[in-house]
Amino acid sequence: MADVRPIRLGVNVDHVATVRNARGGRHPDPVRAAKAALAAGADGITAHLREDRRHITDDDVRRLKAEISAPLNLEMAATEEMLAITLKTRPHASCIVPEKRSERTTEGGLDAAGARAALAPVVAKLRAAGIRVSLFVEPDSRQIEAAAAVKASIVELHTGAWCEALSSGDAKAAEAEFERLGMAARKAASLDLEVHAGHGLDFATAERIAMLPEIVELNIGHFLVGEALFAGFETVIRLMRAAMDRGRARARGRAA
Ligand code: PXP
Repeated sequence: MADVRPIRLGVNVDHVATVRNARGGRHPDPVRAAKAALAAGADGITAHLREDRRHITDDDVRRLKAEISAPLNLEMAATEEMLAITLKTRPHASCIVPEKRSERTTEGGLDAAGARAALAPVVAKLRAAGIRVSLFVEPDSRQIEAAAAVKASIVELHTGAWCEALSSGDAKAAEAEFERLGMAARKAASLDLEVHAGHGLDFATAERIAMLPEIVELNIGHFLVGEALFAGFETVIRLMRAAMDRGRARARGRAA
């Protein structure tokens, strides 16, 4: 039997913070979600500190680093501000992503080929601090070659186009994109880059992409947070029903 390495699950807790921030306050706490994810079998935690702090905050990053012992992967744009925060935080790994203020999520991969000169010193500083560096790129050989050239240790392949083609029912485009992902994974492995993948994955797409043996980590967020509502909503309603009924029972006891 071929020696196929295990595949790690990195849970992205950004959207726990999105829900918290919709109200302000502390609930739901992304650090609590991170601990629950690890207790349930996740191998690491990912968080993206965006320039506009729309979900994860500086304090979340500080607490994630202080309170979880599993590997923390901090996603960052290659800016001076984020570099300084990442160097101070010293996460296990840092995934460099492109960031536009107007996008709803990270929409495309990093143009590592076009930004080699700017990326190389950022990668060098992170590496010198003992942080593993990953570049979030499209499944494209030029981008993968550029990641190797700037001395990243990892590429995270953007699975968004594949997942979108599948969800819009375009089977032909989805197959072509899956081919691209497979080729990119093989190319990256041949250049000694560790291969991760993520964006838009759900149960079915995670199962399929886990069939590519070069890929050793998937980073998944949005689907998990959304699906947790359905897996957990009934339990929470039952707990609330019980809490209210206990209160009523006490009121009746007092009145008797
Ligand atoms: N990997 C990277 C680099 C990302 O930017 C994101 C989205 O924040 C993910 C993985 C997770 O994507 P999703 O939330 O769609 O699972």
